[in-house]
Amino acid sequence: MSVRIVIGAQWGDEGKGKIVDLLSKDADYVIRYQGGANAGHTLKFDETSVVLHLVPSGIFHNNSKCVIGNGVVIDPTALVDEIESIEAMGVNLEERLFISETAHVILPYHKVLDQVKEKRRGKDAIGTTGRGIGPAYVSKVSRTGIRMIDLLDEETLRYKVESNLEDINASMKYIYQEEPLDADQITNEILEAVQTIAPYITNTSALLHEAIDSNKTLLLEGAQGSMLDIDHGTYPYVTSSSPTAGGACSGSGIPPTAVDHVMGITKAYCTRVGNGPFPTELDNNEGNNLRKKGSEFGATTGRPRRCGWIDLVALKYAIRINGINELTVTKMDVLDGFDEVKVCTDYQIGDEKTRIYPLDLSKVEKAEPVYKTLKGWATSTRECGNFEELPENATEYLNFLEDYLGVKVKILSTGPKRSETIMI
Ligand code: IMP
Repeated sequence: MSVRIVIGAQWGDEGKGKIVDLLSKDADYVIRYQGGANAGHTLKFDETSVVLHLVPSGIFHNNSKCVIGNGVVIDPTALVDEIESIEAMGVNLEERLFISETAHVILPYHKVLDQVKEKRRGKDAIGTTGRGIGPAYVSKVSRTGIRMIDLLDEETLRYKVESNLEDINASMKYIYQEEPLDADQITNEILEAVQTIAPYITNTSALLHEAIDSNKTLLLEGAQGSMLDIDHGTYPYVTSSSPTAGGACSGSGIPPTAVDHVMGITKAYCTRVGNGPFPTELDNNEGNNLRKKGSEFGATTGRPRRCGWIDLVALKYAIRINGINELTVTKMDVLDGFDEVKVCTDYQIGDEKTRIYPLDLSKVEKAEPVYKTLKGWATSTRECGNFEELPENATEYLNFLEDYLGVKVKILSTGPKRSETIMI
């Protein structure tokens, strides 16, 4: 039995989907605990690939049950699309998918608000995915949210949509100069989706407590990354949930005392989508090279990702706030063929040189990365079946990371396929 949290240790897109898919072959339960359809976890199989947005990546292992926890915000129509595409791959979801009755619902008005608010922010736009995530969490925190359990009672749903729209339509008219939204149309759209979703809605907190009592193996799957956390990330350029380890507990109902391992996932380099500071960003040929070799385009939005060298100052911070005690390095193969590779060990901020990630965003914006340059490796890491077969300079690179971060690398991913993985 064990409870393991798997977290993105950077700005998301670290390749969590593949790793959760691998680890979940030994897991009885795989649980998503925050975020929504803003996430996109790409799984590559030998012949095909699939992108999951809400359903945990464990769904392709028949032995694991998958839970969408209370901390997730669920777009019912996106979920129906996903359920249908998973079923089309021959996977039966009965008794395998469980949705928390207290997870909040993303309604069409949240998506509209997300888009009109971004438009209004102009140059200060966050660069959201436009999936309604922020506004849905605003509804949750302001206690006007609609939860999955409310979808099972048509009268409650109609009442809540109508009353919420009174405020929202006033702001549509007077603030955003947009057309009002229609309560009946929204309710009917949601009710249609509910027909597919209803059988999966349940008390997942009780389910997970029973699983812990029966010594089951649980895997909690974070979406986005630690640096996009609403509390610990580069606020306001963050998502509106808590991808960090603390969020795994509040977003699932699993107590912190039950957690054994926190696995942090980092790319061998660094990417970010959306706006906000990114000290090691490479706005040059090296950055373009990383983007091209790493196919760095958003799984949900298709946007090109910003690319740069690995930032150990930010990574060390993620390790501290999450209690990461094991590390996975992904996309190692993307660094194959570089003459030299750089790692950011310090930030130079004016006269100050520091290894402590500043919480003052204006300091991060001013930070100049201080690099240690390591030798690159010409041969491919993709064909390596174990750690010993890696090119010497690739091993040196990983050793440098481990020494700096004080955490051992347990898994190394050298390509998108399940088979291109070294378990150390
Ligand atoms: P939101 O989560 O759509 O509100 O977007 C807020 C910020 O988080 C934006 O910078 C997005 O690009 C970023 N973001 C949201 N989801 C992901 C993800 O799955 N990977 C990487 N960045 C994400």
